[in-house]
Amino acid sequence: MKKAILSFVLSVLLNVVFAQANLPADYLSKEFHKGRRDEFRKLMPTNSVAVIFAYPERTFSRDISYQYHPNPDLYYLSGYKESNAVLLIFKESQQANNLQYNELIFVRDRDKLAETWTGRRLGIEGTKEKLGFSVVYTTKEFNNFPINFKNFTTVLSAGIPTDIKNDNSGYDLAGLLKTFREKAAVSDEERTLHNLQQRLATNTNMQNLEQMIAGIKRTAVNNEKILNDSYIQQLMAKPDSVQLEAIKLKLLSQKDGMDFYREIITALRQIKTAEEMVVFRKAIKISAIAHTEAMKAVTADMSENEVDGIHRYIHKKYGAEDEGYPTIVGAGANGCILHYGENNNTKIDNQLLLMDVGAEYHGYSADITRTVPANGKFTAEQKAIYELVYEAQEAVFKLCKEGTPFGNLNKKSTEILANGLLKLGVIKEYGEVRTYYPHGCSHYLGLDVHDIGDNLGLKENMVITVEPGIYIPAGSNCDKKWWNIGVRIEDDVLIGRDNFEILSIDAARKWDDVEKVTREKSRLNDINLPKL
Ligand code: GLY
Ligand code: MN
Ligand code: MN
Repeated sequence: MKKAILSFVLSVLLNVVFAQANLPADYLSKEFHKGRRDEFRKLMPTNSVAVIFAYPERTFSRDISYQYHPNPDLYYLSGYKESNAVLLIFKESQQANNLQYNELIFVRDRDKLAETWTGRRLGIEGTKEKLGFSVVYTTKEFNNFPINFKNFTTVLSAGIPTDIKNDNSGYDLAGLLKTFREKAAVSDEERTLHNLQQRLATNTNMQNLEQMIAGIKRTAVNNEKILNDSYIQQLMAKPDSVQLEAIKLKLLSQKDGMDFYREIITALRQIKTAEEMVVFRKAIKISAIAHTEAMKAVTADMSENEVDGIHRYIHKKYGAEDEGYPTIVGAGANGCILHYGENNNTKIDNQLLLMDVGAEYHGYSADITRTVPANGKFTAEQKAIYELVYEAQEAVFKLCKEGTPFGNLNKKSTEILANGLLKLGVIKEYGEVRTYYPHGCSHYLGLDVHDIGDNLGLKENMVITVEPGIYIPAGSNCDKKWWNIGVRIEDDVLIGRDNFEILSIDAARKWDDVEKVTREKSRLNDINLPKL
């Protein structure tokens, strides 16, 4: 009997060990997430609480949901990756139910039946053990939890999402939000007032004052808060230009919970910690390898979709869970569509192929674009445009260090592309450059592909993209020889105090390196599948 018990215990232990052994071991640690909450708390105003909801689930097909994607803010601050949850961070220590706490998380309850259908849940115990929270409740308990948001001076939140599914249980995200609205200090009227104030502060001038006043009158119908607000009343009284500027300054300094939340989460997330960079570098490295393998494998006979599949296969081979955004694989004319997502051209042919693809690894997203000739050789015109985009990218890299104003990156790339296009005769006036370069040069990168950032001066340990491009669709007002050339080169760059690092350097960039890799053989071309 003893032996039987021992072997049972052993088998349970081994099961646990083996089950764990097959899971990735390089997730961010619970200490990381706790550290982020502590930093967030330090920046919160006195007597405040931050409320961070999970992202909604989305319908893919009738009773099937899309693969769930966590809210990056909630993931960053807690590590919790499931739906129907809410995290509360308090500035000051709180007390309820005989417990002392400065953070609370309400999570999905364990449910044996549901878990056999849609997967394992952490539940209360898992959230305590794996994520290191000491006070955890189920979402069912949020409704009756003794918290009065009206007792806080500021309730920090990203805002309440409106496009959510409601399973009418009262315990899903819709239920949590309903309860929050009931308990919340901020009414819809107050939020409308604040949004209006910020709009007025940013957009009003002496020329459009009358128009703005008319707009206020329309918005103010049935909103006592707006009608009674002293700043709004001062604006309605038609101030002179000096008075107007003073009112605008006062309005801009009025921060609400959404402003505080945005400022704090941006200040944190835009600077990457060493622990994040370990995971983030993997996302980018995987993507660079995928680009290299796709370059090697691409042939004129392939479809865009097949190339898309090569990227995804390599991502998964290295353990990336997802792509950070819908993949863009566009040949010829399709390469001129900035966020082309159909990827359904069945024959790439001897065209230029633009691939903008990035893996998401443990939440962090790469964002890399390579543009390659499917047959391994650029035409003279393709090469001229490619080299110009490359030159712009090189010039912007040099600005990638602490202190550079974010706006200077786009200014520099625009200047180089405009002068180059003038020289090639593609444009006749400097301003025409926007026709062929209609997007910005850079954005922040991280848990979101278009990550949050303050757009001010670059700082050490920010990660940004550098992605100049030129797109000349057929019918453009230039010589036909340029038509259907779309080139973007996009790399992911870590900002240093006095230098930069191209994290995506493993994917060939220079035109001759690109040609060389594209002509290399790939084992993927040897796969022989039956014909349909
Ligand atoms: N892949 C989207 C972008 O480059 O911004
Ligand atoms: Mn990008
Ligand atoms: Mn991109």
